[in-house]
Amino acid sequence: MSDRLTDWWRLAFTSTPRELFIPDRALWVHDKNVKTPIDRDADPDTWMRAVYSTDFIITQTDDGAGGGEGDYTSSSSMPAIMLGMLNHLDAREGQQVLEIGTGTGYNAALLAHRLGAGNVVSIEIDPELAQQARINLAKAGRDVRVITGDGAAGYPFGAPYDRIIATCSVGTVPWAWVAQTRPGGVIVTPWGPPLANDHLLRLEVGCDSAVGTIVDSVAFMRLRAQRWNVTDEPDDFPDIAAQSRTDLDPHQVLGNHSTLAVALRLGECRAIFETDHTTGKEILWLLAGDSWASICSGHVRQAGARNLWDEAVSAYRWWTELSCPDRQQFHLTVTHERQWVWLNDPANAVATLT
Ligand SMILES: C[S@@+](CC[C@H](N)C(=O)[O-])C[C@H]1O[C@@H](n2cnc3c(N)ncnc32)[C@H](O)[C@@H]1O
Repeated sequence: MSDRLTDWWRLAFTSTPRELFIPDRALWVHDKNVKTPIDRDADPDTWMRAVYSTDFIITQTDDGAGGGEGDYTSSSSMPAIMLGMLNHLDAREGQQVLEIGTGTGYNAALLAHRLGAGNVVSIEIDPELAQQARINLAKAGRDVRVITGDGAAGYPFGAPYDRIIATCSVGTVPWAWVAQTRPGGVIVTPWGPPLANDHLLRLEVGCDSAVGTIVDSVAFMRLRAQRWNVTDEPDDFPDIAAQSRTDLDPHQVLGNHSTLAVALRLGECRAIFETDHTTGKEILWLLAGDSWASICSGHVRQAGARNLWDEAVSAYRWWTELSCPDRQQFHLTVTHERQWVWLNDPANAVATLT
């Protein structure tokens, strides 16, 4: 991560108290995934420690419907990740910036400190979060225009922008973002197919297209319209699944650099590693629509229309035949008509996304 703390960003962070943006009750995620509920009234010391930690803090679950233990739908990101993304964005004083995913408003407040009053528009799909962010930003004295709406459409009324930054991830980059960015401008967004949703993409925008390079690893929640559906494992999975053996280690197939290639081939497929409570062994689950595969100690089970493990192995072999390219060698081109991932040369498309 590009976590260089320039004087500009140091001043922005020190002049923007995070405590103005974190709700009184939230979920602190620390020490490699320990989750601690924090309550400002009940335990102000722990709340303050969480707020000024380097960790991320979950601020909403289940789109605000749940009691706290569901899917994470909004958060205040790790400050170091935010700094890295802001460095890649490289926004300068006076430029116009659109942020997708206002959340607490903290990142928008940092941007507003750097760019000056009236230069940041931020769009949030959840009306309650948007309203709370407006209150937080007002308390911090930051002049940001917060729009309630679907950031997938950008915000044409403030266009053209010099920069767009998304703080939720996408599998395909909405064309509206490219169309609303000035030629020569930059878009920074978390990106990836479901199985490799952990890349930070920096796109340089031209007259009628944008070209993206993977610049880092980040993990973000998905843009709402691009969330994936997960179907539950069928009860009779062990009975209906075809069984086979494999010599390949799942961690090799889904390795640091191979995962993106495998993910591009598998499309709408997710991977979950979990530990079997009875045997203590690790299982890889692959799931896509009504197709399921489990791989445990070389034992493969596959059910449904797709043989997901076989597909993953053949995608992995394809990646090795390409001489095992690093993920940074993959690029994305976005035009109005289509988006494709290429290797080494835009003409060498390896996956078409739209
Ligand atoms: C990781 S949080 C954003 C963190 C935020 N930038 C901050 O500093 O607190 C992601 C946010 O994206 C929002 N979001 C998801 N899909 C969206 C969409 N289509 N349009 C606008 N916001 C969206 C979520 O509601 C959530 O608040």
